[in-house]
Amino acid sequence: MKTILFVNEKGGVGKTLTSSNVAAWLALNGARVVLFDADGQANATTGLGIPEYPGVVNILLRDVPWEDELRRVRPEVVSRKSFSGELWVLPSNVESRDLGARLPEHEIVLNRLQELSAWADYVIIDTAPSAGLFHIALMLASDAVVFPTICDGDSIIGVRKAFSRLKSSTVLRAALAVPFPPIIAKAIIPTRYEGNTGLHAGQLEALQTEFGGKVHIATPLDKRITWSEAKQESLSLFAYAPRSEAATQLSKVAEYVAG
Ligand SMILES: Nc1ncnc2c1ncn2[C@@H]1O[C@H](COP(=O)(O)OP(=O)(O)OP(=O)(O)O)[C@@H](O)[C@H]1O
Ligand SMILES: [Mg+2]
Repeated sequence: MKTILFVNEKGGVGKTLTSSNVAAWLALNGARVVLFDADGQANATTGLGIPEYPGVVNILLRDVPWEDELRRVRPEVVSRKSFSGELWVLPSNVESRDLGARLPEHEIVLNRLQELSAWADYVIIDTAPSAGLFHIALMLASDAVVFPTICDGDSIIGVRKAFSRLKSSTVLRAALAVPFPPIIAKAIIPTRYEGNTGLHAGQLEALQTEFGGKVHIATPLDKRITWSEAKQESLSLFAYAPRSEAATQLSKVAEYVAG
């Protein structure tokens, strides 16, 4: 099982849409995937047609079994074609908002996810922009971290903050009693990209200068209305517009992130 965290401490940069569509792509390609909605806004949950529900809180604070909390995404939400994988959501609701302060220990996410390790192939975690102890607990439980970002100054500051939090989490993970491999900073994913603007092209260069030696900078996901349309219909890109440029670009990014 591989756990991949999508994080940026700036809001509205595409964390939910990239993480849920990567999760859909993995299921479409045969994997059993859990999309862990760690954001009280519950956008990943409702975006795939699942009602809001305190699944995350029940798992982390109430020691409820996973089988009571996971919700299976209907296959037609993932793809119009038949496929052998499965997509499950650990739903959230507003109760997840202040979870950081209520966690019994920062290893709780890691410990609970271990229960899925023989069953799930991937856990994809969507996070809230507001950081805190919950982010540390999520990073501690992650094998890889991905940073979606718009190519503008504020969003890149959000990447920088998340990146330094990753460094602290790496130190904590190295100190665990049971050894786990180091957390990999897997990719920065430029989103909503408009390459014909000086701002985006310039900020992409700035990203490469600052982070290029530390983390892979993925080919940008262009700004396309398809993303918002699919979200509006509560469908993955592959169910809504499988032949679209948006779906093609996301597939390439998903393949890299999954590897
Ligand atoms: N490649 C894209 N092209 C066009 N619009 C996009 C693209 N990616 C995301 N969006 C739009 O950007 C908005 C924010 O996306 P999303 O909800 O995934 O961001 P987020 O980082 O999860 O936000 P939050 O921090 O509030 O959780 C949405 O309205 C979405 O439709
Ligand atoms: Mg979101």
